[in-house]
Amino acid sequence: MDDHGERNSRLPGFSRLSAAERLDAIAAFAGLEDAGALEALRCPDNGLPQVIAANMSENNVGRFSLPLGFATNFRVNGRDYVVPMVIEEPSVVAASSFAARLLRGGDGICATATEPIMIGQIHFPEPPPEGELEAALATHGAELKATLDRLHPRLVAAGGGFRDARVRHLAGPDGERLAVIHLHIDVRDAMGANAVNSMAEEAAPLFEAWTGARVGLRILSNLPLHRRVKVEGRVSLVAGGGESALDPEEAARIVEASRFAEADPYRAVTANKGIMNGIDAVLLATGQDFRAVEAAAHAFAAYEGHYTALARWRVEAEVLVGRMDLPLALGTVGGITAVHPAVMASFKVLGLRDATQFAGLVAAVGLAQNLAATRALASEGIQHGHMRLHARNFAVQCGATPEEVPEVVAAMVALGRSDLEAAAGCLAELRRRPPDPRSAAT
Ligand code: MEV
Repeated sequence: MDDHGERNSRLPGFSRLSAAERLDAIAAFAGLEDAGALEALRCPDNGLPQVIAANMSENNVGRFSLPLGFATNFRVNGRDYVVPMVIEEPSVVAASSFAARLLRGGDGICATATEPIMIGQIHFPEPPPEGELEAALATHGAELKATLDRLHPRLVAAGGGFRDARVRHLAGPDGERLAVIHLHIDVRDAMGANAVNSMAEEAAPLFEAWTGARVGLRILSNLPLHRRVKVEGRVSLVAGGGESALDPEEAARIVEASRFAEADPYRAVTANKGIMNGIDAVLLATGQDFRAVEAAAHAFAAYEGHYTALARWRVEAEVLVGRMDLPLALGTVGGITAVHPAVMASFKVLGLRDATQFAGLVAAVGLAQNLAATRALASEGIQHGHMRLHARNFAVQCGATPEEVPEVVAAMVALGRSDLEAAAGCLAELRRRPPDPRSAAT
C-alpha cells in the first residue's frame, strides 16, 4: 500500500450532495488544500481561460464546455480513487461508480502494465534489397541509439529513450515491396508523440545515408502494441446480490452477454463503445489524446483478424471475473497537462505516481463501465436506468427551472415515459397546480 493507501473513495450519498458539497468531499478525500485547484474544478470561465485556449489551437473564437463529474468507489491495486469524468451522456458516471462498488472487494481491480514503449515508423516506399536494412541496423545500431538519445537528454535522465529497432517487410496494395523500420522508444510518463516523431525524423536521414534508399513517412504509430495494460476485476456471488456482490443468476447472464460480444462484431462494437464511454470521459478530464486511444482500442479489438470484445467475463470458482487487455498511450506530463487549469486540478485529485499507474486506472474505469452496461442489458435493460437521467434533459429542454426539474422527472417516471412531449405535459401540469401551502411556510 502506498502513502495514499488510507484514502477511501466509498462516499455514500455523494450523488445527493450539491456541487459545492461534492467539491468539499473531493477535497477532503484527496487532502487537497490548494484553493486554486478547487476553483479550477468548479470550472469558472469554462474551466479554461481564454488566454490559454487561444494558444492551444488555431482560428480560435472561444471555449466549449461539457459536464465534469467524479465517479466514486474506485479501488485499483489497493489504492482508492475518485475519478474525474467529462461526458455529456447521462448514466455513465453513475454506472462507473456503481460497478466500481461491486468491484471494490479485496484490493479492488488489479492492473498490470508493460513498460511505456511507443513505436516510431520509418517508411521505405522503394526499399533496398532484402537484408540491407537489417544489415544497417546491425552495423549502426549503437550509433542510432546514441544519436537519438542525445536528442532527448531529459527523457533519458528519466529512464526512457531509444530501446531497439526492427525491420518489417510488407506487400503494398498492388503486391509491390514496402519496408518499415520500427523504432521502439520508452517515453516514460509522456504520451510520447513528440519524442517519437522527432526521433523518427532524426533517424530517417541516417538510414538514407546507410542504405541509399529513400525514406517516405516518419511518424509514430497509434497502435502502441508494446504499451499495454491488463486489468482484472472480481465480484463475489451471493444469492440476492448485495453492495459488493452479484446474484449468481445475474452473473450467468453477464457471462452469456460477454460470450455474445466475443462472438459477434456487431455486438462487440457496441460493448466496446460502452468501455470507451468510461475511458474517453477520464481522458477528456485529464487532457489526453482520446482519438489516439480510440484508434488503438478498436485496432487492437480486430488484431487477431476479426473484431471482438475487449473485455471478457467468466464465472470462476464462484466469482465473476472480468479481464481486459488494452494498448493505452497516456501522459501525465506534456501536452496540456501543465497548461489547462481543470486538467491540472483533476491530476491533483488523482494524485498519481506515473503514467503507468494512470493507465491502470483508466483501463479499470473501462472494465467497470463494461460490467455496469452488461449487467443492466442482461437484466432490466438499458432504458430503465437511463429514463430518469434522460427525463432530466427533456425537462430542462422544456424550460423547467432547477426547482421544477425533480418534480417533472418524478411525474415522467410515474407515467413511464421519457420524451419531450411527456416532459412538456408534466411541466404544464405542475404549473397548473396551486402552490403547496406547506412549501410556502418553510
Ligand atoms: C451506450 O452508450 C453504451 C452501451 O450500448 C454499451 C453496451 O451495449 O454494452 C449501453
